[in-house]
Amino acid sequence: MVGRHVAVFGGGYIGLVTGACLAELGHRVVVRDINPEKIQLLRSGDIPIYEPGLSDMIARNKERLTFTLDAQHALDDAEIVYVCVDTPPSASGDADLSRVWAVVKSLADASHLRAVVMKSTVPVGTGTRVRAAMDAAGLAHVGYASNPEFTAEGTAVRDFLHPDRIVIGAFDEPTARLIQELHQGVDGPVVVMDVLSAEMVKLASNALLATKISFINEVATLCEKTGADVEHVARAVGLDHRLGHHFLRPGIGWGGSCFPKDSEALRQLASNTGYHLQLLSAVIEVNNLQKRRAIQKLKDELGTLAGARVALLGLTFKPGTDDMREAPSTVLAARLLAEGAEVRCWDPMGRPGATEPWLSTSRHATPELAVEGADAAIVVTEWPQLKEVDWARAASVMRRPVLFDGRNLLDPADMRTLGFTYMSVGRP
Ligand code: UDX
Repeated sequence: MVGRHVAVFGGGYIGLVTGACLAELGHRVVVRDINPEKIQLLRSGDIPIYEPGLSDMIARNKERLTFTLDAQHALDDAEIVYVCVDTPPSASGDADLSRVWAVVKSLADASHLRAVVMKSTVPVGTGTRVRAAMDAAGLAHVGYASNPEFTAEGTAVRDFLHPDRIVIGAFDEPTARLIQELHQGVDGPVVVMDVLSAEMVKLASNALLATKISFINEVATLCEKTGADVEHVARAVGLDHRLGHHFLRPGIGWGGSCFPKDSEALRQLASNTGYHLQLLSAVIEVNNLQKRRAIQKLKDELGTLAGARVALLGLTFKPGTDDMREAPSTVLAARLLAEGAEVRCWDPMGRPGATEPWLSTSRHATPELAVEGADAAIVVTEWPQLKEVDWARAASVMRRPVLFDGRNLLDPADMRTLGFTYMSVGRP
């Protein structure tokens, strides 16, 4: 395999995983980020995100993997530029592509450049616009490819090296081949297509995954109303190989850095074309409803939330990550606080941002401490540690042993035996 010079723009979650994995495959990689503290941390071997296997991979490839603030330095030797910057939603709902355009503008200074690869999730049609801008900037000889990311947090390194598929969308065959060669050593089928379709694959995949979850969550609601048990239903439905058992875990709703942003982006994209995506709109609404229902269940049980002390167990949008972006916990906390409740919480890893001021004062070192004197507790994230809690003790230190298990983590019969008023999602 030919080791290439790669510049990765954006040292966030995707940029770091992409950079580290490309270095692992034998390429020379420079990761460029605009945040000086982040670059300093990375240079000293400190990884600003938690992702299993990433730290070790970065350490063992330190000869081939460097970090810089300087765009020009990153571009000096670059044959391939990976765009891994974030594309947050703007006020209009469209993805804000300003960071993508900043990278594209800087490309004129890269003299060895052969291809630009878009890893950031962008609206369908972005590649066509970037291609036109590159042509206008005298970069017609440089290829462009869309290579969407399907890695999930917690398994990102494995997902990169052993993906279900590598999607490459390109305007020309040589570029597609170059990007395919770059992935030599990755264990997964390559699917080559046009750029517009590759951009759509990413948004459609995430939307369908979110749809499966919202669907089973609606079935769970119906199970509650009829007496059926959604866990039995999901297991049996998932055994149909045409449907599959993945993403049929009912719960308090989906969150994270991808699903909420990408589903809104796809909805907006459709509406820009004059088409209203009926199904996806309902999928998003069901996800919001899931959290409203949890709050309503507590309210029904406690009478009022005003003055009630509620413990949130788990803050991250899923276990195995420190990411709290769009986590259900943030929505629940905001609603609880608005209703006049006192919020306490526990999480082994969550890294709250400035948007979660309630966390600084209310966080406790163990679940048992978090539930002390509480009128209710909510299992928000299915951290395995919550299975090991001494629930008998937890019940005895709570003011009222009311437990809403938003992830169906615990056994209903066991919890009721311990004296809990136990509620979960779609189980009798
Ligand atoms: C997701 C996609 O899986 C990945 O392919 C894409 O590249 C980025 O978005 P991620 O956001 O890391 O990855 O998390 P994922 O494991 O997919 O979970 C997303 C959310 O759905 C979480 O909040 C999780 O708790 C929830 N979920 C997932 C369920 O509620 N039920 C399920 O059955 C599965």
